[in-house]
This record gives sequence, structure tokens and C-alpha cells, in this order.
Amino acid sequence: MRKVTLVEGDGIGPEITQSVQHILEAAGAQIEWDAHEIGLTTYEKTGTLIPQEFIDSLENNGVALKGPTTTPVGGGHRSINVSMRQLFKLYANVRPIKTIKGLPSRYENVDMIIVRENSEDLYKGIEYKVSEGVAQGIKLITAEASERIGRHAFELAQKLGRKKVTVVHKANIMKFTDGLFLESVRKVAANYTGIELDELIVDNCCMQMVTKPEQFDVIVTENLYGDILSDLAAGLIGGLGLASGANIGQKQAIFEAAHGSAPDIAGKDLANPTALLMSATAMLDHINQSDVAARIESALKKTLANPETRTKDLGGTLGCKGFTEAIISNL
Ligand code: NAI
Ligand code: MG
Repeated sequence: MRKVTLVEGDGIGPEITQSVQHILEAAGAQIEWDAHEIGLTTYEKTGTLIPQEFIDSLENNGVALKGPTTTPVGGGHRSINVSMRQLFKLYANVRPIKTIKGLPSRYENVDMIIVRENSEDLYKGIEYKVSEGVAQGIKLITAEASERIGRHAFELAQKLGRKKVTVVHKANIMKFTDGLFLESVRKVAANYTGIELDELIVDNCCMQMVTKPEQFDVIVTENLYGDILSDLAAGLIGGLGLASGANIGQKQAIFEAAHGSAPDIAGKDLANPTALLMSATAMLDHINQSDVAARIESALKKTLANPETRTKDLGGTLGCKGFTEAIISNL
């Protein structure tokens, strides 16, 4: 049994994490869940956003599966995701976007991996009110973090036999910050002769992504651009219900979907657990239970390929619970 830290999260979090737990159990995953609350739920009860018990648990277990957590817009507490990624130095946010065969979609062969720098940029949280009506935020970019994410992208490309890494930036305007990011990735790229480095300005990248998404292979980019591009990319393959992700650090990794807590559909049995389930199969690979991961992925594919067993966000009729049962019966 491998101990894994579990956070159900807010909104649709409990529905989709329970779905994923059921499927993993039915597939024979050897996991002992170590459940913790973080964020809004604990904040309201105890005034702490990230309780020490959770920190200890993740430090001991090294791996967590996490449902989405709500962050208030504007005022209120800082994003726990951002804090947690900084606390555990989860420097890489890896988000695969791949067409699911058999699902109706505008594009047929999308297969890209977005590697997002997860620790700095405008998400560092250095922002304040200067005076009435004036606020300022600071964009922090370092060569160390930029080279580290560049290496992560190229190592991943090499491991998966990918041929191209596209670095997405805006160095024409932000010459120092994005200039440093671009320069750092170029420096890393020079060590990987078999993989092409492509450079693309972020606004052009958005246009290219919706017109010709098949051209992308591995994308490496800064924190803010990566956040926006990964939701855009999710839309190319059928929506946020299908976009999985992993936050990877040197010692710990947190696996979570790219989407948020979806308050608009929470508690209505409407959530699609696929994104979290695919994050969980990536987690199973990470903890050397790849045979279980493969079994789940094949049952998931079979379930999604059948129009009778799809969730409502994909034009089907099933709720989160019915879809979960359909996957289990396809295992
Ligand atoms: P969202 O990703 O929660 O929802 C956007 C839209 O996609 C909504 O219409 C929602 O119903 C739909 N959607 C999302 N996941 C779905 C799923 N699994 N199945 C079916 N439909 C799904 O983004 P939103 O509404 O902007 O954010 C809500 C909250 O989530 C905010 O507090 C935000 O800060 C937080 N958030 C948390 C994240 C995390 O914990 N990793 C990531 C992104 C947002
Ligand atoms: Mg996001």
C-alpha cells in the first residue's frame, strides 16, 4: 500500500474526488488515502488556509491528489494553490492536452503538453496599493527558475520522444523579464540537439492554437501565459472536464485537474471527473502503478467513446455518479 495525501477541495471537488477514489479502488490501485482539508473549509473553521497536518502529510507521503479549491476574487485570502506551489517548490505544472478518440471535436489530432513555470512571474504575489486609485504588481523572473522549467520541458520531450519544444513569451515588449525567460530556455535548448526549439509570441500563439493546434508538441512558458493557454487548450479537446495536470517539485508532487471548483454546477451531479481521473492515472504512473493506470485509461476511453455513457458537458446524459459506474463496469 502506498500512502497518498488526499484533498477533496471545494465546489465539485468532493464529487469528483470520490468518483476517482471509487474507480481507483475498483481497478486495484494499492493506495491508502490520507485525507486532509485545506483552503476555504479549514479557513472558515480555524483561520488557517494550509494546516500544518496537511504540510506534514505531503512531506511524508510525497504525493497528493487534490480536488479544486476556491479562491475569492479581488479581496479575501490568497490562492492556496499559488501558496502551496511556492511552499513545496512545485516548479513545474505539466498539462497534457490530447484529442480523445471517439469524442466529437473540432480538431482530430491535438496532442500537446503545456509545461508551465509554476513558481514566479506575476503570480509571485508581489502586488500592493500604491495610493488611492493606483495599484502595482511586480513580475519576477529569474534565470534559475527559467532554466529549471526549460530543462523540465526538454527532459520530458526527450523521455516521450517528442520532436519540438515551443517557448511562448512576449520578449518583444517585456525585454528584461520575458527576455530573460527566452534567453534561459534558448540556453537549455542548446544541450538537446535532437529536439527543435520553436519561439512564439503569446498573442500569436493564441491564434495559432485555435486555427492549427495540431502543430504543437511540447510548450514551455511562464506562469500567467501557461495558466491562460492551458484553459484555451482544454477548449480545443472538449472542455475543462478533460484537462488533467500535475504540479511537480523536487521532492513532492500534487496531481490535480486544470479546472477550478465550478461553483455553478457543484452538488448537482453534473461534474465530469475525467480531468481528475487522468491526473490520478498520471499519479499512478508516478508511484509505479502503471498497470493500474493503463487499465483505468482503457476503461475511460471505452466509456467516452460510447455516446450513451458520456457526461452532460460532452453532450451525454450521465451525471458524475452514473459516469463513474460506467467506467467501473468497463474496467
Ligand atoms: P472553473 O474551472 O471552476 O469553471 C469554468 C467553467 O467550466 C464552468 O462553467 C464550470 O462549470 C466548467 N467546468 C469546470 N470543471 C468542470 C468539470 N469537471 N466538469 C464539467 N464542467 C466543468 O473556473 P471558475 O469558475 O473561473 O473558477 C471557480 C473557482 O475555482 C475560483 O474560485 C477559482 O479561483 C478556482 N480555481 C481553482 C483551481 C484549482 O484549485 N486548481 C484552478 C482554477 C480555478
Ligand atoms: Mg487556471
